[in-house]
Amino acid sequence: MYLLYPYFTNDGSVGLFSPEADDIYHSTYGALTEAYEKFILPANFLDYFKEKSEIKILDICYGIGYNTKSFLDYFLKNIYTDKIDTNNNKYIEKSYTNNKKYKIFVHAVDYDKILSNLSPFFLANKINIKNNKLNFENEKIEKMLSLQKRENYKLKKEVSIILLEKLKNEINKDAEYILSLKNYRPFFDKRMIALYKFLKYEGINNTHLSGIINFLHNIYYNHISNSYKNAMKALNLIDFDFKLTNDDARRVVLSDDNIYNYIFLDAFTPAKCPCLWTLEFFKLLYNHLDSEGMVLTYSNSAAIRNAFVNAGFYVGKIFSETAQKFTGTVAVKNKSLIKNELSEFDLGLMKSKAGIFYRDENLNALNEAIINRHSKDVESSTLVSSSKFIKNFRRKNDI
Ligand SMILES: C[S@@+](CC[C@H](N)C(=O)[O-])C[C@H]1O[C@@H](n2cnc3c(N)ncnc32)[C@H](O)[C@@H]1O
Repeated sequence: MYLLYPYFTNDGSVGLFSPEADDIYHSTYGALTEAYEKFILPANFLDYFKEKSEIKILDICYGIGYNTKSFLDYFLKNIYTDKIDTNNNKYIEKSYTNNKKYKIFVHAVDYDKILSNLSPFFLANKINIKNNKLNFENEKIEKMLSLQKRENYKLKKEVSIILLEKLKNEINKDAEYILSLKNYRPFFDKRMIALYKFLKYEGINNTHLSGIINFLHNIYYNHISNSYKNAMKALNLIDFDFKLTNDDARRVVLSDDNIYNYIFLDAFTPAKCPCLWTLEFFKLLYNHLDSEGMVLTYSNSAAIRNAFVNAGFYVGKIFSETAQKFTGTVAVKNKSLIKNELSEFDLGLMKSKAGIFYRDENLNALNEAIINRHSKDVESSTLVSSSKFIKNFRRKNDI
């Protein structure tokens, strides 16, 4: 049976744990906050949409969709509508005065169909977080949760509704079964589940289901009718194309003809999922990126940066204002898009053993094989070790 390991992260959005990967899907300081800080803010969409009205995004490792959701949220709040009117706490819709018809294409890729199906239903704005019913044993996560502060990003309800509209015909029985289970209930938005049932049975009239439909209809009208109407209005005004592909990202990108303006790369860590961090995969991404485009990822690893450089990209760092530290890497074709250059230390580390990257010549090797090959490459390398490089660098620079 498919098992989920959800918990509330510190910003009130649901995060997941994967026992197979022995890794968290989302940072404990906030799944939504992480998406905003590592993918959305560094992408500088405000500048992008000053010039353009069309965008193509490839969301690699969509999971439960925080990166796409945060993009839509940011778009609705800052591009499609103007900022919030603080007097009456409502969004003021102004943007269509400039007569732009926005065209958005998001290609979401993840090999886990059930997770993608569940993406519109997870709660993202829980205020009183209580994780006393964690459905898995993980002291590590509880400890991390207690150490980190909360941020306050809030997801507009319209975002989940828009995704549900796009996904409603793809949701399979397994995902529906998970939505019906009692132990997962605290992590799902029950109004979204009601809306899904309503949308699903909408077309069926005069059957024994009529009573249920009326009941669901009332729930949905009482609670989310305004958001639903706003979401439908946005869908009428924006040309939003959402494509979900549930397969190995390497296969998907190999057979994809699109050229993207942004690529979000949110795979599990390189040590857990090296197949999406290899030189060959990055070369593939290079061929799918617009000349003014940007690949964003949370990894700061020297090997990852070196693989990007060897694949032909210019590489820079992501700086988080809130955390006051570097929290990821950007890879671009146009060097002038880089805001934070790699330092002398970063470049030196990339030339040490720490910079030896993963290989996957035929783009189909198993993660274990890629790890074994990498270990051998490191063992046989004559490059300086990372510890020696760091020691020398500190001595030379009096640190
Ligand atoms: C760190 S999580 C991504 C979290 C996600 N961005 C979100 O917002 O929920 C990594 C994801 O990678 C997916 N994944 C792992 N290996 C993959 C592969 N080879 N191809 C496609 N997806 C993969 C997993 O199913 C998982 O959902």
